[in-house]
Amino acid sequence: MKNPQRYTVTAALIYANGPIHIGHLAGCYIPADIYVRYLRACGQDVVFVSGTDEHGVPITIKAKKEGISPQEVVDKYYKIIKESFADFGISFDVYSRTSNPIHHQTSQEFFTTLYQKGHFVEQTTEQYYDETANQFLADRYIVGTCPVCGNPNAYGDQCEKCGSTLSPTELKEPLRSTLSGATPVMRPTKNWYLPLDTMQPQIEAYVSAHPEWKTNVAGQCLSWLKEGLKPRAMTRDLEWGIEVPLPDAAGKVLYVWFDAPIGYISMTKEWAAQTNKDWQPYWRDENTKLVHFIGKDNIVFHCIIFPAMLMNEGSYILADNVPANEFMNLEDDKISTSRNWAVWLHEYLVEFPDKQDVLRYALTANMPETKDNNFTWKDFQTKNNSELVAIYGNFVNRALVLTHKFCGGQVPPIGQLTDIDRAALDALAVFPARIGDAIAQYHFREALASMMDLARLGNKYLADTQPWHAIKESQARVDTIMHVALQITANLAVLSAPFLPFTAQKLQKMLGLPAVPWHEAGGSLVETHQPIEQGGLLFEKIEDATIQAQIDKLQAAKRQNELETKKIPPLRPVVQFDDFAKLDLRVGTVVAAERLPKSDKLLKFLIDDGFEKRTILSGIAKHYTPEEMVGKQVTFVANLAPRKIMGQESNGMILMAEDRDGSLALVQPNKSVWDGGQVS
Ligand code: MF3
Ligand code: ZN
Repeated sequence: MKNPQRYTVTAALIYANGPIHIGHLAGCYIPADIYVRYLRACGQDVVFVSGTDEHGVPITIKAKKEGISPQEVVDKYYKIIKESFADFGISFDVYSRTSNPIHHQTSQEFFTTLYQKGHFVEQTTEQYYDETANQFLADRYIVGTCPVCGNPNAYGDQCEKCGSTLSPTELKEPLRSTLSGATPVMRPTKNWYLPLDTMQPQIEAYVSAHPEWKTNVAGQCLSWLKEGLKPRAMTRDLEWGIEVPLPDAAGKVLYVWFDAPIGYISMTKEWAAQTNKDWQPYWRDENTKLVHFIGKDNIVFHCIIFPAMLMNEGSYILADNVPANEFMNLEDDKISTSRNWAVWLHEYLVEFPDKQDVLRYALTANMPETKDNNFTWKDFQTKNNSELVAIYGNFVNRALVLTHKFCGGQVPPIGQLTDIDRAALDALAVFPARIGDAIAQYHFREALASMMDLARLGNKYLADTQPWHAIKESQARVDTIMHVALQITANLAVLSAPFLPFTAQKLQKMLGLPAVPWHEAGGSLVETHQPIEQGGLLFEKIEDATIQAQIDKLQAAKRQNELETKKIPPLRPVVQFDDFAKLDLRVGTVVAAERLPKSDKLLKFLIDDGFEKRTILSGIAKHYTPEEMVGKQVTFVANLAPRKIMGQESNGMILMAEDRDGSLALVQPNKSVWDGGQVS
């Protein structure tokens, strides 16, 4: 084999602010893993780098929401995320975090180099400041009225009601800070900008030197370039992040999109230190191919901003390709963490133990390579039952079972070949290149489909040669057939490994197959007399009820979420009619009302219930004055056991309805009725 090609393959450093879901896998990590596993099988020199992005506003927002510190947030999610990736066989060489000292140091050095080379433009701008919390406010921390839909709780970066992208200056007054509630004021602040505007020609040259980039990627780049690039601040007024290594930058940190991609470099350094390698060729040798796997929301950062940083720094290579995917939807709706509309990886594995490859398969088959795509549980079931079970699993199972039935459980010798055998072997020979070329071009769905065609070839070969009939004529003929069938099986084990690593590994073990380089596939891989395991089913059918349970779970999440966004309290548990009938609800008239001393909540009422005057205490002083209550009819629980409240006995409870803002309204009959009238 010729000299290996060196590759640095990165997968987006996901924010450590939540667990991961199928959208992340389909958009970025599965394609990256397929690609890397293929390159390794080809004997290339690969480092596969990823980790968590632990800085920036998304982390501080999560910390606020969970009521813990940003450090606690990233510690918690780093662990969960790393585990999920490991569980799904994403084969990183290093999975690290941007909070590590080596990363802080690498980012600061990078910044300093750009600074010393004069690549930053210092600029003072007016930014919103919270005088109570004593800090500048990230866009997300400013709330005001949406100029588009009038939502009074729109954020400075987005209105969640109508979906408009906003900037804080577009919000209508009054503005408030989500940190303290204070009204933000404008304050001047100095930051360091990357002058992307003056770099436009260089960036244009870089992008247009890559006509091979995917159209969805090139499209986004071109639209940014057409708009005209603008200077972008590489430092931010924020507390959480990497300190800006300048004397006049106290309280400022590096922009998270400045430090995060440098994480690819610092994590490569970590890996090199652990494995006794030199990191530099992976980032500085012109012959190294640098490939960034990301989702579409990261395109501009990897195709324009990070390359601009690297160009200015001067000692690094630029990405060869950025094969970004679009988004994966779930049951025809956008995946959303906050709405809990997602399939979480850690939950999937509890509900479908050992079925990593089924999910990997379903996500690859539907990978959003050029446009958004959709994951449905029904389709997941079909992919499993009609493809993995019926095609792949079925072929492998038949090949192993028949080998035991007819050939003593070992690879039989090959004899005289018929035309059918030759055709099958010829067809087999083209698969490594067919599948490999598709992977190399980032056509993962096509590659997967080819891999399944190989399993189909196996099924067709057995159907055409019918060893179960041939056995009546000739053992030698059956030996040849099973020999060929087992070679197809062995090739399937090798060529499906990038997509179905867990299954492929099981299959290799059943066949006693060592690790086989990709270029050796296509022909004979298992030797005559090699014992073959009895097998066992690689995939099992997934029943309708299992799928329905998943669909129900999603629907329940959706309902829960709708209630939460509308702030409608969830329903209490069902009561039987007999229990309801125990309540005696009646109408009466307030004849006297007074405040209770020492309580700003309670009012004391005297109510004419048509029979006598009873005392009822009620916590509505913030909503009604005693004066306005006198003479009003109220509905009350008449048979409530007497209770002592603040030393006073209360004989019943007045019914109130709570409005959205928490204010209370009396529940009254809509025309006056006689006192003592029963509610039923
Ligand atoms: N944290 C970002 C996100 O989740 C991705 C950062 S990728 C890197 O969208 F290049 F910056 F590292
Ligand atoms: Zn709006």
